[in-house]
Amino acid sequence: MRKITIAGNWKLNKTPSETVALIEALKSEVKDVSTVNMIVCPPFTSLTEAAKILKGINIALGAQNVYWEDAGAFTGEVSAPMLKDAGVSYVIIGHSERRQYFGETNDTVNKRTKKALEHGLSAIVCVGETLEDREAGKTFDVVKDHVTGSLAGLSNDNMTKVIIAYEPVWAIGTGKTATPEQAQEVHQYIREVLKDMFNDDVANNTIIQYGGSMKPENAAELLGQPDIDGGLIGGASLKADAFAAIIKAKA
Ligand code: PGA
Repeated sequence: MRKITIAGNWKLNKTPSETVALIEALKSEVKDVSTVNMIVCPPFTSLTEAAKILKGINIALGAQNVYWEDAGAFTGEVSAPMLKDAGVSYVIIGHSERRQYFGETNDTVNKRTKKALEHGLSAIVCVGETLEDREAGKTFDVVKDHVTGSLAGLSNDNMTKVIIAYEPVWAIGTGKTATPEQAQEVHQYIREVLKDMFNDDVANNTIIQYGGSMKPENAAELLGQPDIDGGLIGGASLKADAFAAIIKAKA
């Protein structure tokens, strides 16, 4: 059974003190939720503060990137052992903003994913087409390329710690959501790709989140699709009440 998994991608938002305030507010909103995996992914500078107040709480902590070496002369990077020690258990890898603005490729996403898994972190690997891709009829090709390239060389066992986030780039931060049918179609396709790459079990058991303007008003319908197992939430995760409403949409 795939458990609904909702992650908040805070992006470049919230100082450490603002992080504490937001998590405190969220904690009281979701204290009775037990049927949903909940994850918050604040910026690196907030992780240790966040870890302190999440102790003993059923909200997991995630980071927004990880480097593919453990240590060394790599100015500006953060490693998997650093994240582990800070109390992190998930890491978002290959978000479209990283692919678009920071030169991330399938190859670097693959290296980061392998390193995260090697250190026992779970990876939330992001894939998704641009508007141009969609209009050119290339959605499935691009998604297949992202999935096969980003997860190349992983074992079936590795895949128990991988979540895929399908995020159509044209829906991110734009207020334009994919329709439940558009999202479902791609999620189902991702399972076919996983079946070819791995096996039936991996295809059936991998959590596939939808991301892109998910909000309280559309969450229940999206999460009601058979192959949509959760959400990666940007804007709406910055407000405790909105994020909690998404979490509770199917709880
Ligand atoms: P959004 O962002 O919910 O603000 O569209 C989603 C994401 O980029 O993960």
